[in-house]
Amino acid sequence: MALLDKDRIFTNLYGFQPWNLKEAQARGAWDNTKDILAKGKESIIEEMKASGLRGRGGAGFPTGLKWSFMPKEPPKDAAGNPKPSFLVINADESEPGSCKDREIMRHDPHLLFEGALVAGFAMGARAAYIYIRGEYIREAEVLFAAREEAYAAGLLGKNACGSGYDFDVFVHRGAGAYICGEETAMIESLEGKKGQPRLKPPFPAGAGLYGCPTTVNNVESIAVAPTIMRRGASWFSSFGRENNKGTKLFQISGHVEKPCVVEEEMSISFRELIEKHCGGITGGWDNLLAVIPGGSSVPLVPAADIIDCPMDYDGLKAVGSGLGTAAIIVMDKSTDIVRAISRISYFYKHESCGQCTPCREGTGWMWRVMERLRTGDAAPEEIDMLFQVTKQVEGHTICALGDAAAWPIQGLIRHFRPELERRIAENMPEAAE
Ligand SMILES: Cc1cc2nc3c(=O)[nH]c(=O)nc-3n(C[C@H](O)[C@H](O)[C@H](O)COP(=O)(O)O)c2cc1C
Ligand code: SF4
Repeated sequence: MALLDKDRIFTNLYGFQPWNLKEAQARGAWDNTKDILAKGKESIIEEMKASGLRGRGGAGFPTGLKWSFMPKEPPKDAAGNPKPSFLVINADESEPGSCKDREIMRHDPHLLFEGALVAGFAMGARAAYIYIRGEYIREAEVLFAAREEAYAAGLLGKNACGSGYDFDVFVHRGAGAYICGEETAMIESLEGKKGQPRLKPPFPAGAGLYGCPTTVNNVESIAVAPTIMRRGASWFSSFGRENNKGTKLFQISGHVEKPCVVEEEMSISFRELIEKHCGGITGGWDNLLAVIPGGSSVPLVPAADIIDCPMDYDGLKAVGSGLGTAAIIVMDKSTDIVRAISRISYFYKHESCGQCTPCREGTGWMWRVMERLRTGDAAPEEIDMLFQVTKQVEGHTICALGDAAAWPIQGLIRHFRPELERRIAENMPEAAE
């Protein structure tokens, strides 16, 4: 069964109504936020844990658990003064295919600001920084304006919502680098340094922004928190399978009749999602070739494996891929699948920050081989060599961009080796005779 309207968290996802405070409040935002905070930090964290919410930024780490890692008592600086803690909200959304955080920010920004207060309070943060990708110009304008409204209404700032808690939210615009979506690179960038990831540990909860305890969460993870607190953990966890709970924003692009962003129940099958919200596959189900289910960094899944797959963390893992950000890129049989993956390889080569040799050199090497495989200008043994190189990059770098560059190619070789071999064979001189 698919999600009913009464159970949607994002009731203005398509911007049919204005985003402003008055309308947002009429939709339920900022409703008794003071009462939510009055439950206390521990109780909010326990409720979030019980809801089963897993981070919506890609890795799926349990959100309540992450908040619980923040220190209960503030650590002291060298002079013995207590250090502040921070929440950083990841609005970088640069993964190809992902476009859900954008809809939240431009059409329902108050859910995000309210979520920032609830989450920030629960983890004892003094302030939240929303780091928004540079290309989201209109979305940033909405955030700045909504922030003004929230401050003017006393919802943020000193004594936020009359709770006695002082909490600030800052909006920070990035300059358009994919790598700044990685949490440690984001922290570096916020501090005004080059946006390059750093090794963990220390984890941000121990030493993050300005060396202070910090939690980085995705926009969607934060924006759903107030509704979970209002409606209860059991309501949220009534959706989806065990370990895969809640409602989720799916973003479907590519060869469907009606590409869209839609809030649905986690674990809905791919077939139902596409039939119900996207008007089907172009040319019908027999015309489906493959799907990249979680944004460009996860391996593709061939048609036969995805059609009845539950769209959740475990379902997609079982077919050798991942839910990622739930950015579902649908490819029908008109797709040049080798070219598509080669283009993704180019993206990762372009976005590598260059710190680690396997990533800096490997992404360019892999892309160049992919380009030759695209035209068939390669030797058959290069397919295995390419696969081996992806394995040398995967897991051997500071951040997960290396994995993100390796996995799409691995998926291609695993499922479309005959197509690669055909191109090479057709390009061989004897085949041309
Ligand atoms: C290269 C790279 C890019 C990333 N980009 C984003 C992004 O744009 N948005 C996001 O929320 N998380 C992104 N992440 C994941 C973040 O590092 C982090 O795990 C996430 O923001 C945590 O939020 P969550 O626990 O709410 O999912 C990226 C990770 C990597 C390695
Ligand atoms: S894996 Fe790539 S992007 Fe990540 S730190 Fe290393 S060089 Fe930079």
